[in-house]
Amino acid sequence: MRHAIVAGNWKMHKTYAETHKLLDELIEKLPAGKEVEVIVAPTFTNLGSAVAHLEGTNIQVAAQNMHQAEGGAFTGEISAQMLKSVGVDIVILGHSERRQYFHETDAILADKVNTALRHDMRVIYCIGEELKDRESKQYLNVIFNQLKDGLFHLSKEQWKNIVIAYEPVWAIGTGMTASPDQAQEIHAFIRQEIERKYDKTVAENTSILYGGSVKASNAKEIFSKPDVDGGLIGGAALIADDFCTIVECC
Ligand code: G3P
Repeated sequence: MRHAIVAGNWKMHKTYAETHKLLDELIEKLPAGKEVEVIVAPTFTNLGSAVAHLEGTNIQVAAQNMHQAEGGAFTGEISAQMLKSVGVDIVILGHSERRQYFHETDAILADKVNTALRHDMRVIYCIGEELKDRESKQYLNVIFNQLKDGLFHLSKEQWKNIVIAYEPVWAIGTGMTASPDQAQEIHAFIRQEIERKYDKTVAENTSILYGGSVKASNAKEIFSKPDVDGGLIGGAALIADDFCTIVECC
């Protein structure tokens, strides 16, 4: 069901001690009574202890990735059931850094989505164009194909566990945030294509988050757009005061 979400993608940051220091700060400082789902995504080594630390709070824990196989000879990988076994029911898939550095294709990601849904997990599915796609005005085609090849094989029922994160690659970690109007244009396009593929109910019930240099200073304007349902936050998620301000803005 569509609702406001602010998720922090911690990427490859925070040791065990640093993780739990930040979690303590978030528990203390996050605004109370907000109708916003707050999610943190620490690294694999700290997921289980983060779940235990956040027991009794309304902060959810997500994994930053998972393998599509149920298990086996995949050195260094983590399966859905391993995540579930430590209390993690949400996974980020398709992040541009996974696509770029680890060569995750839409086909591989579709398999990962299927596995996550088979284990009744919620998926935050990342899509977004590169600068070359925007400059060549191919960005809408790129985004549509990422949706089609990664998610459009799913049933309407399965879409209940899908959250979309639109993250223009050129805005990630660069400080070059998409303008609120740019974000709204793409979010509306994504929602339109979901409606075209399925129906208005599926489209209206899907949360679509913006990611790419969201900061305490720009979150309010971005989140004010009608098709922006929150954010997937990178750098600013590592600083409690900034992340809490961003949640306050949602
Ligand atoms: O997944 C969120 C991340 O890619 C955005 O990073 O540092 O631009 O907020 P950042």
